[in-house]
Formats: sequence, C-alpha cells, structure tokens
Amino acid sequence: MADPRTRVLPSVDDTEALGRELAQTLRPGDLVVLDGPLGAGKTALTRGIAAGLGVQGRVSSPTFIIARAHRAGQRPDGSPGVPMVHVDAYRLAGDLDELDSLDLDTDLNHAVVVVEWGKGVVEHLADRHLRVQLVREPESDVRTAIWEWIG
Ligand SMILES: Nc1ncnc2c1ncn2[C@@H]1O[C@H](COP(=O)(O)OP(=O)(O)OP(=O)(O)O)[C@@H](O)[C@H]1O
Ligand SMILES: [Mg+2]
Repeated sequence: MADPRTRVLPSVDDTEALGRELAQTLRPGDLVVLDGPLGAGKTALTRGIAAGLGVQGRVSSPTFIIARAHRAGQRPDGSPGVPMVHVDAYRLAGDLDELDSLDLDTDLNHAVVVVEWGKGVVEHLADRHLRVQLVREPESDVRTAIWEWIG
C-alpha cells in the first residue's frame, strides 16, 4: 500500500474537512481505526466522515454508549449515502467479549465502521483498515493527521 499521508490541521474545521475528504473514498465494509490521545479530534474527524458519507443523525462523543448506528442519507454530491457505525472502544478496555457482542462484523456487511480507540482491538474484523492517527501539541489547537490503509 501507499506510504502514510500526513496533514497539518490548524483548526477543528480542517479536521472535519479531512474527514469529509476521506469519506469520499469509503464504501460499505470499510473499517476506519482512529488513534490518538484524549481530545485529539477523533470525534471531530468522525463528524467530517459522517458528513461526507451523508449519514443521518448527529455524531456525538458516545460517552455512555459504545456504538451508535447512523442510517444512510445522501452524500454531499447528491448520491446515495452509506450507513455508518460509530464506536468508542475506550470503555471496552480491550474486553473482547463485549466487542464480540457489538456484532461489528455484521455491520461491516453494509456500513462503514469508524472506531475511536480501536487500535490493537478491532483490526481483525476486516481484511484491511484505514488507520488515522491524530497527534496534538500541548496547549495548541494544531493537530497532525497521519493516515494509511493497512492490510
Ligand atoms: N485542529 C483541531 N482538530 C480537532 N479538534 C480540535 C482542533 N483544534 C481544537 N479542537 C478541539 O479539540 C477537541 C477535540 O475533541 P474530540 O472530542 O474530537 O476529541 P477525541 O479525540 O474524540 O477525544 P476523546 O478521546 O475524548 O474521544 C474539540 O473541543 C475541538 O473543538
Ligand atoms: Mg471522541
């Protein structure tokens, strides 16, 4: 696969814009694994991906829910949208039974699955995945995204 790509993201709008851009290449069955510390912008990026896929419903930080399914709507260009399942694996803390019970492999038959805190936990669910790492500097809004397809 191609080398990792990198982009500096000065503001949250830039992060959402990258998400919209990445979404243009995503199809049902694609797994996206988001990596990076608290507040790095994983949910912000997911919001952009959701907008690019054209899903329904607001993307929020799933603090009390582990996975939220968003129905397909319409992509920004008017073409049919793709459903998205947004998972926050933070509270799973590597609990593989609980991960199993989410049935993400079933979701991957028809949806894009985006997993925050999924690195090292969900990669086995698909033949390949898009890994996006978000890096943040202390006391700055600037984030850097590094992404590549793995597998
Ligand atoms: N360049 C940027 N990209 C993304 N978010 C930014 C940026 N600059 C500032 N922010 C702010 O940083 C915060 C990022 O929060 P977000 O919930 O997306 O992070 P997260 O990685 O999902 O955190 P968590 O690990 O708690 O789920 C938001 O308040 C957002 O407005
Ligand atoms: Mg988050």
